[in-house]
Amino acid sequence: MDYRKYIAHRLAAEGMTEEEVAEAIAVPPDPSLGDYALPCFKFSKVLRKSPVAVAETLKERFPADDVIEEVSAVNGYLNFKVNKRGLAAETLSRILREGEQYGGSDCGTGKTICIDYSSVNIAKPFHIGHLSTTVIGGALYRIFRFLGYHAVGINHLGDYGTQFGKLISAYRRWGDRELVEKGGIRALNELYVRFHREAEKDPALEDEARAYFKKIEEGDAECRSLFEWFKQLTLKEVSKIYDLLDIRFDSYAGESFYQDKMQPVIDELREKGLLVESRGAQVVDLEAYGMPPCIILKSDGSSLYATRDMAAAIYRKQTYDFDKCLYVVAYQQNLHFRQFFKVLELMGKEWAKDLVHVAYGMVSLEEGAMSTRKGNVVFLEDILEKSVKKAYEIIDMKNPSLSGKEEIAGKVGVGAVIFGALYNNKIKDIVFSYDKALNFDGETSVYVQYTCARASSVLSKANESGFCASSDFSELPPLCSQEFELVKSLAEFPDVVRSAAEKYEPSFVARYSVDVAQRFNKFYFDCKILQEEETRAFRLALTQATLTVLKNALGLLGIGVPEKM
Ligand code: ARG
Repeated sequence: MDYRKYIAHRLAAEGMTEEEVAEAIAVPPDPSLGDYALPCFKFSKVLRKSPVAVAETLKERFPADDVIEEVSAVNGYLNFKVNKRGLAAETLSRILREGEQYGGSDCGTGKTICIDYSSVNIAKPFHIGHLSTTVIGGALYRIFRFLGYHAVGINHLGDYGTQFGKLISAYRRWGDRELVEKGGIRALNELYVRFHREAEKDPALEDEARAYFKKIEEGDAECRSLFEWFKQLTLKEVSKIYDLLDIRFDSYAGESFYQDKMQPVIDELREKGLLVESRGAQVVDLEAYGMPPCIILKSDGSSLYATRDMAAAIYRKQTYDFDKCLYVVAYQQNLHFRQFFKVLELMGKEWAKDLVHVAYGMVSLEEGAMSTRKGNVVFLEDILEKSVKKAYEIIDMKNPSLSGKEEIAGKVGVGAVIFGALYNNKIKDIVFSYDKALNFDGETSVYVQYTCARASSVLSKANESGFCASSDFSELPPLCSQEFELVKSLAEFPDVVRSAAEKYEPSFVARYSVDVAQRFNKFYFDCKILQEEETRAFRLALTQATLTVLKNALGLLGIGVPEKM
């Protein structure tokens, strides 16, 4: 039941369309006022009455029924109380029926959405800077699939550029096959750092690196095989992290994939008269749009990040015929995306409007910022490991005899890092703190996981005592406010998922899960789930439904739920 729609349908009249009414309906901050409210000042102008009078008139037009059991006009607001038992019956039977599918829909069927996320750089550390794009992108990928979209996850690997010439130069000079094989990204990063150190003293190294890069581009067998090896080493390590975070991709077409797809783009730009020369480089002038020029070719003829991104966008449109293509990338790259989106638009690609930069803020650790060149970086792998270790210590302290502590600590520790990166509106800069993220009583994944374990434990206790959850909700006992507040939030899940997708904001799902957990805990402490016979079956069903919703919500974020904690 969509209450907003229902109320809007019944209220719609001249001067106030169904859509306008539905749009205006809000949830009052104080539930004792009502479950929904229509602020009437919006309609007072067209109806030529004061908001108070509008509310009074509308109230006359809306006698209570099976769905809305009470309507009141208060200070220019029309307040609605929904039939509690009706809502509970409908919500619980739907959750029970849909199970793991509850919250999803088929509204995206037939639509394709490309999501460019994580997009790590070869031979560079997978550091905390990639955490947000990976977990936000991964969550959006799952959310869109849950809504029936065909989602294409793309890891636009950073595998192109002079840095690979630098690496080959460094490897040739100081590298050791076995050490690199063993050390992986760390060893490669050390070589890279050493290159920069030595190049400060001997600038000729830079020329050597450029020459090596040219060789990679030209397909020199030895250079290419070294480059491929660096790539394999990186991907092997990175995929361990992807497994931990429950992340997957449908394509790993990175920047080098577009090496032979850029010339047609450059030709088209030239044909359309968009390229101009500026200090030896070929650029598209964007002054009219208040942006610096978008550089397409450098003076030495080499291509740029933007050129490859344009080739990639065109390729994606041709290959996937997307309805939307998202780029989950830090806000530092705002200008880059605005520029190349604009250039595609100027080229006459009407689909440029479907490209979306999903920008997010910085995550940092208390330790401070980092630079790959200097080598003082924090690897994401270490952050996850540390979080799991801390989670283990806490769990071990709270419940030393718990079996399977390692596995539980894995879910808790990894979940805390994911949730920490997802909980806030994505554009905010955040400082990650292990202690805050692992607080059992905070707005954390641990809190939600712990709530799930609590619900599981109630259900298994019931099971042992032979108590069953109700499956027929036609004759429910009257609901108390704790029960009803919980039911209401469970009923909202499909809307929450939809708006998370609409706003590209997985934090909605994260916040929602905390809200549900808080309401469940209030219900758990205030209402005796197993003690009273008349309410037991219903309360067990409510507990079961809560567990399903929380699991689905955390699952969308890539966070697992332990049975016990
Ligand atoms: N590899 C880039 C970085 O780490 C991000 C790439 C984002 N995707 C894109 N199509 N530009 O900064």
